[in-house]
Amino acid sequence: MLNSIDPKTLASNLNNKFIGQKIISYSKITSTMDAARIEASKNTPEGTVIIAKEQTASRGRKQRTWISPVGSLALSVVLYPDLRLLPSLIMLAPLAALRSITTVAKIKPKIKWPNDLLIREKKVCGVLIENQMRGTNVDYTIIGIGINVNINLADFPEISLIATSISDETGKEVSMNKLAQQLFVEFEILYSAARQGILPYEEWRDNMVILGREVTVSSEEVIYSGIAESVAPDGSLLLRLSDGSLINILAGDASLITK
Ligand code: BTN
Repeated sequence: MLNSIDPKTLASNLNNKFIGQKIISYSKITSTMDAARIEASKNTPEGTVIIAKEQTASRGRKQRTWISPVGSLALSVVLYPDLRLLPSLIMLAPLAALRSITTVAKIKPKIKWPNDLLIREKKVCGVLIENQMRGTNVDYTIIGIGINVNINLADFPEISLIATSISDETGKEVSMNKLAQQLFVEFEILYSAARQGILPYEEWRDNMVILGREVTVSSEEVIYSGIAESVAPDGSLLLRLSDGSLINILAGDASLITK
């Protein structure tokens, strides 16, 4: 029951103007990203959500696979943002997930730059952003969000050391419909504000788990290590290297070094 995803329940009492106004739901699909791309290429309304109870070929960033069984929230949102909004999307999606998990599950994850959510330093949520460009214009953007909600990570030994779930952390299962609905609400608030030039930079920065910590960062085939000093309003990471220099990394993947 808690794992059921029902578009009617999702749409009920949802006062959003666009996110979740159209919901396409699947019980099983390869990847919601692919379904969202097909919808976007047919000019589906902005804010259309593709949601699946289970994905069989779910993908993560950097060609990684993402395990997406029943009990994980898996959805993709279709957006048609202006080019200037693209950098801010790495703040909006994790913050919408962070706020909704905090409200619904009463546990507050932290952000690992750029847009992973961790609880006790294990991954609970991942975000994948795919932009389709036409010249210098954005044709469409698909925001994929995966949250480990009601999953027993002991059933997935291949990721159990690095991942966790809401139910493993709180001892309680939460309603997938409630969590998804709250995510739509938070995403619309954040996206609407961003369209008016108001970015949640401070909230994104202040919820970072890596600041002041030793990290390795892979970016464009190079691996850097240093202290994560700060993140900038353009979404980049400021990394202090061992020779004292400060570098600015626009895109990459950070890993915490635990000693
Ligand atoms: C990552 O952390 O590498 C990103 C994971 C993103 C997973 C989500 S689940 C919904 C959507 N469909 C996919 O195939 N991937 C994203």
